[in-house]
Amino acid sequence: VDEQGVDGARTGVAVRPGVDAAVVALARGVEDAMIATDRVLGEFLGDRCAAAAAVSPAYGRLWDDLAAQVGGKRVRPRLTLAAYLGTGGTDPVGAAPVAAAQELLHTAMLAHDDLLDHDEVRRGRPNLAGLARTRTVRGGVTGRALEDQVLAAGLLGGDLALASAFALASTAPVDPALRLAVVDLLVAAVGTTVAGELLDMLAELSPPQSVDALLIAELKTAGYSCRIPLASGAVLAGAEPPVVAALERYGTALGIAFQLADDELGVFGDPAMTGKSVLSDLREGKRTELLRLAYAGADAVGRAVLDRNVGDPGLDEAGADAVRAVMVDTGALARVQAMAETSAERARDTARDAVPGPLSEYLVGVVDDLAGRGH
Ligand code: FPP
Ligand code: MG
Repeated sequence: VDEQGVDGARTGVAVRPGVDAAVVALARGVEDAMIATDRVLGEFLGDRCAAAAAVSPAYGRLWDDLAAQVGGKRVRPRLTLAAYLGTGGTDPVGAAPVAAAQELLHTAMLAHDDLLDHDEVRRGRPNLAGLARTRTVRGGVTGRALEDQVLAAGLLGGDLALASAFALASTAPVDPALRLAVVDLLVAAVGTTVAGELLDMLAELSPPQSVDALLIAELKTAGYSCRIPLASGAVLAGAEPPVVAALERYGTALGIAFQLADDELGVFGDPAMTGKSVLSDLREGKRTELLRLAYAGADAVGRAVLDRNVGDPGLDEAGADAVRAVMVDTGALARVQAMAETSAERARDTARDAVPGPLSEYLVGVVDDLAGRGH
């Protein structure tokens, strides 16, 4: 999901036939504000890299490696800007650092999540840990000492990204009360996501059938990826509380659909498109709704296939194929796809019924780009 393009589709809203002129104008405004946001991110990171290099070459390298991790589709800043401009905001310069903060929070989350998941590839490239491993191995370091360096890079780089998110939001050139409100939302995003990640980690100790993967998706993904970026933009624009609440409901439904699609791609996706291993989730034994349903629907033979392969760190393509077959044959894959579509439809309905103006149609389009399969 992380590498599938919302960019192209949203920027392309202007050329879709039948799109209302006000929606086109909003989409163009969002893309213009994204340029400002990218500039803010680039300048912030450039400044920090230069300052860090002056402290020590190794610290400079950590910032350089971090800067190289920032930016994929940039869904979160785009949601912030859409909510801001779509609820009456008129100052993209003020909103850009708040939007950029959402992206850096995401970078921080990914750095730490990859450590917890033992992943060293992200978006098809080495992540902070992977870059440190290559560099450290080149220096002849092995064993525990090597692993310590790899852990330090992911942990410390993630810390820098987290602090950077707060640095950007807390210096946004906006009314101080609004600035404080968006910083509070970032704090809330961290808390919600940590709760979700904690439950996700603990879920590894539980049988897959007993895990509430939808609650985890809501806490771990929907909050910081959709709900809070949207709320941040709307709060910054001074939107009325019912509009903020509608955007939050929309964001939660969108985020859950997004996570269900991501879990599917983690097993059935094309690594060339997703930039992620298609074995990692299965090797980790990741407790997804897809896996829960596969267990729930499997007979004794199917369960034995799942038990043998899921959570096996040495799982190969043949083993993964056997698991995929169980997921298909039990109907688990089809049910997860249907659940994702139900959540996507809930998001569309909320956007249509409760979000005012051109933002309504814009957000319906976002569902199709990010999580939907049609409509
Ligand atoms: C990805 O899940 C999970 C997240 C992006 C949330 C991670 C949250 C934390 C590490 C806790 C809070 C961290 C900070 C810095 C405050 P996934 O593993 O299902 O997705 P993936 O397949 O993209 O890795
Ligand atoms: Mg992960």
